[in-house]
Amino acid sequence: MTTNDLQEQLVTYLKDAHALEQNALAQLKTGVETAGSEPLRQVFREHLAETEEHDRLISERLESHAESPSKLKELAQKGGAIVAGLAAKAVPDTTGKLATQAYAFEHAEIASYRMLCVVAQRAGDQQTLEVARRILAQEQQVAHKLDGLLEQVAELDLDPTAPRVRRAAVAGAKFVVYKDEGGKSRWRLVSPNGQITASSGQHFASHYDARRAAEHVKQHAATAEIVED
Ligand SMILES: [Fe+2]
Repeated sequence: MTTNDLQEQLVTYLKDAHALEQNALAQLKTGVETAGSEPLRQVFREHLAETEEHDRLISERLESHAESPSKLKELAQKGGAIVAGLAAKAVPDTTGKLATQAYAFEHAEIASYRMLCVVAQRAGDQQTLEVARRILAQEQQVAHKLDGLLEQVAELDLDPTAPRVRRAAVAGAKFVVYKDEGGKSRWRLVSPNGQITASSGQHFASHYDARRAAEHVKQHAATAEIVED
């Protein structure tokens, strides 16, 4: 393999690690809010802080390989697609499923960083190697912590008096497609307490079009940037 090929391969591995970290951030934030087990929430909380650091470190390594911040942002938005096979489409409805998802995800990160170590070493990129080793050690630690919690989480899921998954507000929210007073189709986002948190602002020719517009918003809202004008 030529030096150029190795560099290209290294950037590919870094991009995958970056996509995983972006996904991990979203999953951990949901986990902190929804897990019905305090020890599990604690693991998620601690690892969220670590993951923010991992995301920063990997972004820096990508930037050092001439990937611009704007390109990174674009990558982050595609991140969901890269790891789509791993990320659960729906928010888990039990703490057990949440723990299983986290356990699987940490092992995917471990695999990714173990391979990144090999590629960084072969490419002679000492800084990336050190970063990958450091992150790998933390991923292994958190996987070990989750490993130790699985049985008690399963017991908790069996206990009818134990708290269920505390659904995040967004998990219970609904996009409602409806006809307005003039008989035109619109959509609105209704939170679990019945409050309207967003609306289509315009009407559509059919329910089908309104639904498609709502789907478009749903797809892009999670990664949309908030800017001040
Ligand atoms: Fe992780």
